[in-house]
Amino acid sequence: MGRLGDRGQRWRNALAHDYARPMVDDHDALSQLAWLVAAGADEAVLEAPVNRLTAQAAKAARPSPMAPPPAPPTTPSLNLPAPAISDPISRAHAAAAGCSDLEALEAALESFDAGALRQAAKSTVFADGIKGAKILCIGEAPGAEEDKVGKPFVGRAGQLLDRMLATIGLSRRHNVYITNVVNWRPPANRVPTPEEAAICLPFLRRHIELVAPELIILLGGTALQYVSGRTEGILRLRGNWLEYFAAGKMVPMMPTLHPAYLLRQPVQKRLVWRDLQEIRDRVRALGLEDPSGGH
Ligand code: URA
Repeated sequence: MGRLGDRGQRWRNALAHDYARPMVDDHDALSQLAWLVAAGADEAVLEAPVNRLTAQAAKAARPSPMAPPPAPPTTPSLNLPAPAISDPISRAHAAAAGCSDLEALEAALESFDAGALRQAAKSTVFADGIKGAKILCIGEAPGAEEDKVGKPFVGRAGQLLDRMLATIGLSRRHNVYITNVVNWRPPANRVPTPEEAAICLPFLRRHIELVAPELIILLGGTALQYVSGRTEGILRLRGNWLEYFAAGKMVPMMPTLHPAYLLRQPVQKRLVWRDLQEIRDRVRALGLEDPSGGH
């Protein structure tokens, strides 16, 4: 704590003098001052004390409505270049946030430097199906066929997906839009690493916002994990309605088994059949069969 200097002493005297009026108790003012001094406020800011309790002082302190607004405090310009965002996840966030439609998002992905994953792949696999569909299917990542053709779910798993959807009146040619968590084929069809998924996720989240679906189908554990953030496995959560917050509202989301898994484990198709019936009922209840919404 500093010592009370000359200016502080004058301030203290003035306070004692000004506040020695009928309205203010002298002892009160002094005890407030003692509290301030004890707190370290022992220097006056102005040369002369201002009694802010008088009307004139209050008026002088108030800016006139005609007076120009006070200039903002200036900081010296250092002329430094804007810092470059170098980590791929931050770059992905910035690139995806700047896209206002699906065409812009696809172009942003095409030109995005996603490092090794991107370099090993032939194509950027963006989406397939009906733009404007209310039903969005999200898979894991492109495989070899998808990488060749540049569209999701065109190999054997894709053909099975088409048959699954057809059993409940859905189709990518009529009322479904399809994409993946990851837009480039992981080498040897391995599961995408968390870092690969994290780079693609800002694009996927923007993709979902721009599609604005009214029902989402998650195909397999990777889509479940990264879209919902849930840590339980797909066998535990499949068949249970979850929710995704997109474009200002909660969207029902059904996780089910991935068609590639069903190709290896056909006996599990009975579980998917139950999930599909759930989806069919919800699609009907929400009137989502027609992408134009019946208009
Ligand atoms: N598996 C996926 O998850 N996505 C595809 O596009 C193809 C196979």
